[in-house]
Amino acid sequence: MATEKWVLMVTAQTPTNIAVIKYWGKRDETRILPVNDSISVTLDPDHLCTVTTVAVSPAFDRDRMWLNGKEISLSGSRYQNCLREIRSRAGDVEDKEKGIKIGKKDWEKLYLHIASHNNFPTAAGLASSAAGFACLVFSLAKLMNVEEDPSHLSAIARQGSGSACRSLFGGFVKWTMGSKEDGSDSVAVQLADEKHWDDLVIIIAVVSSRQKETSSTSGMRESVETSLLLQHRAKEVVPKRILQMEEAIKSRDFASFTQLTCTDSNQFHAVCLDTSPPIFYMNDTSHRIISLVEKWNRSEGTPQVAYTFDAGPNAVLIARNRKVAVQLLQGLLYYFPPKSDTDMKSYVVGDNSILKEAG
Ligand code: ADP
Ligand code: DP6
Ligand code: CO
Repeated sequence: MATEKWVLMVTAQTPTNIAVIKYWGKRDETRILPVNDSISVTLDPDHLCTVTTVAVSPAFDRDRMWLNGKEISLSGSRYQNCLREIRSRAGDVEDKEKGIKIGKKDWEKLYLHIASHNNFPTAAGLASSAAGFACLVFSLAKLMNVEEDPSHLSAIARQGSGSACRSLFGGFVKWTMGSKEDGSDSVAVQLADEKHWDDLVIIIAVVSSRQKETSSTSGMRESVETSLLLQHRAKEVVPKRILQMEEAIKSRDFASFTQLTCTDSNQFHAVCLDTSPPIFYMNDTSHRIISLVEKWNRSEGTPQVAYTFDAGPNAVLIARNRKVAVQLLQGLLYYFPPKSDTDMKSYVVGDNSILKEAG
């Protein structure tokens, strides 16, 4: 390692992902192992994403991180687990231009500075933890020359936030719950790449950008402890739904995709209501959006738009094609004009919705 003061940096951009079959509940809180498989679609990287720069320098005296410009503590086990897992796999790094050489063992003595920005509301039910931890792990792996494939990296990102494992891939992604105690088989796999179903257009209706009152982590912990519906869902409902969703994606069957996506979102929110005390993630505007889409789909005879809501009031709407997306946006703007008394903040439209490879 050279003795002079230098800084080596890597920047990565990672999209968020939205589950169409939801993950809600852990069987192991520390390793972040879920009670059921889940399936998601990764958004366009220019849509909703995290940009993270990681830097290493002998001038740094401790690990530090800034999130959206504000310093945050790295002492939590999620950050510590990700940093430890990546450091233990670090390789040799050489930057000939700068005359920097870092050997495998040097990483143990070097500290990191991490600066991360989300281009969308943080902790508001738009999966900031997914894009955030996937980007953290991906950028650190690049900086430290970690030679693991995306599936192994997904198992590390999972230990930051469960949903993050799915953001290491583009397109449609399944997080397999796995059965091993150490979680080594609880990884993400790509079901179909971003080109497979590129007619789809995703519109996100930002109903509220406020931080939610109940984080996903504590919400699902309370559901596991108190909801019988969650037990039924995890054991009896989701396993079958996963197979049906895989088939719908494979055959680009929009009617089946919509039925499964909407039903699963509604069941997830029913589990939240079945939790004691109940958790309310959706609000009146969310419910009105559901009614609008349901009515439209019924009047057309065949589904045009799928809706899904994560742990927050914001709607993710998946239109079957561009023409439908234009009509949908017109309808939304008419019934829910931004900054109106409906609380609607804005719309984000993914042009070529389903994405390129992460990173
Ligand atoms: P969301 O619905 O946005 O995923 P969560 O409650 O699951 O909300 O997670 C929010 C938490 O994720 C934040 O409080 C923060 O700890 C973490 N997080 C969000 N963005 C990032 C980021 N870019 N880098 C690292 N961690 C992040
Ligand atoms: C409703 O991954 O945010 O978005 O693992 O505790 O960090 P932790 O939770 P998180 O939960 C996501 C829940 C969800 C559904 C999903 O993304 O599958
Ligand atoms: Co989250």
